[in-house]
Amino acid sequence: MVNKIVGNVMCLKSSIAGDDGKQYEVISLGPIGVLPEYQGKGIGGMLIAHTKKIAKGQGFRGILLFGDTDYYTRQGFVVAESFGIRNAENMYADALHGCELYEGALTSARGRYFEDDIYNVAESLVSEFDTLFPFKEVIHDTPMQKKFEMMVKKVKPSEL
Ligand SMILES: CC(C)(COP(=O)(O)OP(=O)(O)OC[C@H]1O[C@@H](n2cnc3c(N)ncnc32)[C@H](O)[C@@H]1OP(=O)(O)O)[C@@H](O)C(=O)NCCC(=O)NCCS
Repeated sequence: MVNKIVGNVMCLKSSIAGDDGKQYEVISLGPIGVLPEYQGKGIGGMLIAHTKKIAKGQGFRGILLFGDTDYYTRQGFVVAESFGIRNAENMYADALHGCELYEGALTSARGRYFEDDIYNVAESLVSEFDTLFPFKEVIHDTPMQKKFEMMVKKVKPSEL
């Protein structure tokens, strides 16, 4: 048994501004990370499955996230366009994915997804916070990061 933290996942409450004029509360999942030497052992999948279980138990309708289609479609997510859900700029985004926590939960909440503002935290504040912990090298330009950066640029206007 491993007696240390090898992965983590964070969640926030965010909202969908429904096309019907209603506000729908959803969960935003991410960031998620597993230590490189523990990746590919199902830990990321377990973190996501556990998040779904807790969110469902707390009565949330769905989980949304921006991420890699190849990974998240294996974890029960589908491209949010299939629910009619757009990003805050009212665009269908290839990287935006959703997972319904009960049948019809996101289809009935079609609209624009607004992430919590905390995701826009200034990099300088993050760097300052990081100084409270033992030094860790920040890795840039991994193949997955590059792929994600390409994917987040892929958006198309909605008809609404
Ligand atoms: C993404 C991450 C959390 C997945 O955690 P993990 O514990 O390795 O995931 P799991 O073991 O549950 O799943 C591994 C499976 O997903 C696949 N996978 C992992 N990353 C993938 C990717 N970017 N694209 C496609 N498949 C991917 C693996 O090939 C493996 O497939 P298999 O089950 O068919 O063998 C982990 O790779 C990670 O920490 N990456 C760096 C941080 C990051 O990119 N986070 C995501 C930000 S959106």
